[in-house]
Amino acid sequence: MSENVYQIAIDGPSGSGKSTLAKGAAKALGIMYLDTGAMYRTCAVAALKAGIEPKDTEAVKEMLGSMDLNVKFEDGVQHMILNGEDVTGIIRTPEVSRIASDISSLPIVRTAMVDMQRKIAADQSFVVDGRDIGSVVLPKARYKFFLTASSEARASRRLLELNSRGDYSQTYEEVLKDIIWRDKQDSERAASPLVKVDDAIEIDTSDIGIEETLDLLLSYIKE
Ligand code: DC
Repeated sequence: MSENVYQIAIDGPSGSGKSTLAKGAAKALGIMYLDTGAMYRTCAVAALKAGIEPKDTEAVKEMLGSMDLNVKFEDGVQHMILNGEDVTGIIRTPEVSRIASDISSLPIVRTAMVDMQRKIAADQSFVVDGRDIGSVVLPKARYKFFLTASSEARASRRLLELNSRGDYSQTYEEVLKDIIWRDKQDSERAASPLVKVDDAIEIDTSDIGIEETLDLLLSYIKE
């Protein structure tokens, strides 16, 4: 890897503002952004389409061997291509979110995705967001951040995001319940659980807006 190539790892629970922040940071720095959650979400779509139970290791293993998953960037925007079809528009439904949480707990899925993520981020500078970026995927990332926010703040943001996409299928209470359930799964799973590594800078976004969070993050990078 050339010296000019560097990576920024941003980890944190769902709704902590990772993706908005990662996108903003990548834009401000003129580098690429990789959303790793989108990759687990695409595996979930593959399982859903094939009628596979997301915790059935054998069936998922077979699925991984036969599916063709590609990450494409068009003008810096990430597209998820599953067996030749662009599925980017269907990976953020509540149903896919739940299946993604289940399927991402399988070590065989993680190994395959981590391998792809490392290859993608090897030759160009990237901001990468997820749960295990600073700990597993890119332990040598030049900068590592860990975002947190209260479950309530995250549920409000998630609801706004769903509504802005015309999705009114869930109430605030349902979104909050989903967030608490996913947090538990993502932090208690045996394979690469969500953890803050010692060398990550923690930012609590409960009471600060995206602009302020981005300024804070960029101030650490410029230091
Ligand atoms: O960040 P997200 O909500 O789009 O992630 C979807 C699911 O994938 C979530 O349940 C956690 C999981 N995930 C993961 O296990 N590791 C990552 N690096 C990114 C996401």
